[in-house]
Amino acid sequence: MQIKTAEFVVSNSDVAKCPNSRLPEYAFIGRSNVGKSSLINMLTGRKSLAKTSGKPGKTQLINHFLINKNWHLVDLPGYGYARVSKSSKKTFQKFITQYFSFREQLVTAFVLVDIRHKPQPIDLEFMQWLGENGIPFSIIFTKADKLKPSAITRHVEDYRNILLEFWEAMPNYFITSSSKDIGKEELLGYIDNLNAN
Ligand code: GTP
Ligand code: MG
Repeated sequence: MQIKTAEFVVSNSDVAKCPNSRLPEYAFIGRSNVGKSSLINMLTGRKSLAKTSGKPGKTQLINHFLINKNWHLVDLPGYGYARVSKSSKKTFQKFITQYFSFREQLVTAFVLVDIRHKPQPIDLEFMQWLGENGIPFSIIFTKADKLKPSAITRHVEDYRNILLEFWEAMPNYFITSSSKDIGKEELLGYIDNLNAN
């Protein structure tokens, strides 16, 4: 799929205020600093469409981007960022949970995990919560440029072993690097197929 147009639409912290079109949408979620906003920029080929930062906690709202005038990409705040206050953490959690629970336009979620790290309880718990709530998701491994191919294979296997303890099959997954443009065609092709159905 060719991305011809990518436009910022709206940011907010209330699922009721998200665009009320019926366009299909795809949301990126994962720990703070995992690379959600960078991945959106890589996929759309726009360097600073979504705001990125070396410091975790950059994205604080639900951000809608309209792609090719017929579907939405959604950039979300990260979870698990220790330095935000308890009350703002609660607010985040609330609107993220509401987004996933009530956003009917959501076709699938992409849960991003840093390929360098062992499976973390917070990510596994989030995937489990999506599963329990019937929300389809795929896993996106990020920052693949940071590891050798053999280590990538090993780390994906670690995930597979843990996930198979509570899922019947390994969820769909993608290996990506936003800095090296890895995984772009595969991911866009996957979205294109879902849009066609
Ligand atoms: P929050 O909005 O804070 O939740 O973070 P985020 O998940 O949107 O992460 P963001 O895209 O802002 O990237 C965080 C940091 O990781 C930045 O310094 C990026 O340059 C870096 N980064 C993101 N993707 C990659 C990647 O594929 N490879 C490398 N090496 N660095 C990356
Ligand atoms: Mg972000």
